[in-house]
Amino acid sequence: MTNHRQNILLIGASGTLGTAVHRALAARGHTVRTAGRGSGDLRFDISDPEQISALYAAAEADGRLDAVVSAAGTVPYKPLTELGPGDWQSAFTGKVLSQVELVRQGLARLTEHGSFTLITGVLAHEPIHTGAAASLANGAVEAFVRAAAIEIAPRRVNAVSPNVFTESLDTYGDCFPGMGSVPLEQVAQAYVRSVEGAQTGQVYRL
Ligand SMILES: NC(=O)c1ccc[n+]([C@@H]2O[C@H](COP(=O)([O-])OP(=O)(O)OC[C@H]3O[C@@H](n4cnc5c(N)ncnc54)[C@H](OP(=O)(O)O)[C@@H]3O)[C@@H](O)[C@H]2O)c1
Repeated sequence: MTNHRQNILLIGASGTLGTAVHRALAARGHTVRTAGRGSGDLRFDISDPEQISALYAAAEADGRLDAVVSAAGTVPYKPLTELGPGDWQSAFTGKVLSQVELVRQGLARLTEHGSFTLITGVLAHEPIHTGAAASLANGAVEAFVRAAAIEIAPRRVNAVSPNVFTESLDTYGDCFPGMGSVPLEQVAQAYVRSVEGAQTGQVYRL
């Protein structure tokens, strides 16, 4: 899939990351349909597999789908000793199952050379205090991307794995001491790379 105009479904477009990704994809001439639980053109919760089916049915009604892009995923942050079974389940449902199901259910909906781009994060390989559930979820998504890529060709799947956003430092900076940061625009360009490029099974670390 090259940089001809694509029809893209973007989940999480109203968020910090999603806003930047939306801007970057629109600037490349793509048509972007947005989704969120309480925001966007299509209102669905991707942590519920049945709602993903409904989301795809709604998106499909608007014509062909060339790319599915996720900028949505929630995980709990707590000290390890306070993370209970419900928290691990919540991390799995909120960031792993949601994105895995986007790919699994999306396979039948996407054009032949279409792509999926998922969100993970630096905690997959650089742990911080209170981040164990996020580390687990991000690592799982990255492993899934590598595994899925070899089974879904010619469709493609990649993940974007950013450091803390420079624009989020005021909120989260204290949790990432000395780890630097990445500007949102740079993260958004990794999504453009995934959507328009030819690579698959990649984790773009930024
Ligand atoms: N912030 C950082 O510095 C940073 C760094 C690395 C990675 N990340 C990762 O990037 C992702 C986005 O972070 P962010 O800071 O942009 O978050 P954010 O500002 O809270 O935005 C999240 C977006 O996703 C949507 N969303 C959340 N859960 C959803 C669900 N179950 N179904 C459908 N839509 C859902 C939200 O819309 P609704 O509320 O309308 O559903 C919103 O548009 C997260 O997975 C985060 O771990 C963030």
